[in-house]
Amino acid sequence: MQLITTIAAMRTARAALTTVGFVPTMGYLHEGHLSLVRRAAAESAAVAVSIFVNPTQFGPREDFARYPRNLERDLALLGDAGVDLVFVPAVEEIYPPGFGSYVTLPAADELLEGAARPGHFRGVATVVCKLLNIVQPTRAYFGQKDAQQVAVVQQMVRDLNMPTTIVVVPTVREPDGLAMSSRNSYLSPEQRAIAPLVYQALLAVQARYQTGECDAALLRAAARTLLECTPAMSIEYVSVADPLSLRELETVGAEGALVSLAVRLGGVRLIDNLFLGR
Ligand code: PAJ
Repeated sequence: MQLITTIAAMRTARAALTTVGFVPTMGYLHEGHLSLVRRAAAESAAVAVSIFVNPTQFGPREDFARYPRNLERDLALLGDAGVDLVFVPAVEEIYPPGFGSYVTLPAADELLEGAARPGHFRGVATVVCKLLNIVQPTRAYFGQKDAQQVAVVQQMVRDLNMPTTIVVVPTVREPDGLAMSSRNSYLSPEQRAIAPLVYQALLAVQARYQTGECDAALLRAAARTLLECTPAMSIEYVSVADPLSLRELETVGAEGALVSLAVRLGGVRLIDNLFLGR
């Protein structure tokens, strides 16, 4: 496995390869990340992974400085997984003095994570655009855990005619249903014990839908009722949205729905989602 820190070295290493599967990450790797890596390895001759905690996608009051980092452990996991190239650039390599071009998707900023985290998707789209330009992968892998991020990246690649195929990988969960996330490491034992309620709330919506309920307001209420029983958890949003436009639905029709939610548990923000009708 080759550890690469500069864009020039990354371009040289990539030029020697044929098909490349690429997994962009912010590190502090878990089984969710590794499922993307394994999928990439199964589909391409070589696998590249980036580890870069991207400052532009964090708001001023968010957790950039304290975002968990453990490069040594990440490199060991990627080595065991058979990764070929690991790209770990410094912030100045990606954002040198004078950097001034951003990719924006204004529609995404009005919805869900975009509305809750102003500027977040501008940072995500910009860094993913840069990483795809640097690595020039055949395919790039993203987790369904971040459903709106997938939608943003797919639209960017389509709008800007980028030649990479975007592959979406299912959410990997802990045995009790909690979606794996680097941020789960922030949870105290007490918070960790109630965190699976987030997934249970999604399952409550699914169960209600499976009994024939298509009224989106009533489906959202099924999740809210469950979450509101736990005072330690505060709801940021519960959404039942069109799976393509991510706009809120009144009724779930033939196209199904993306159910997504964000809660705060103490200082920790948790998100999760599932599809209805698939
Ligand atoms: P990060 O949160 O490190 O996630 C990297 C990739 O792993 C993303 O595509 C994410 O959706 C996926 N992932 C995270 N948890 C997962 C889980 N439990 N199951 C399946 N996939 C999971 O997302 C980012 O980094 C950044 O925004 C990035 C795309 C790297 C741009 O900075």
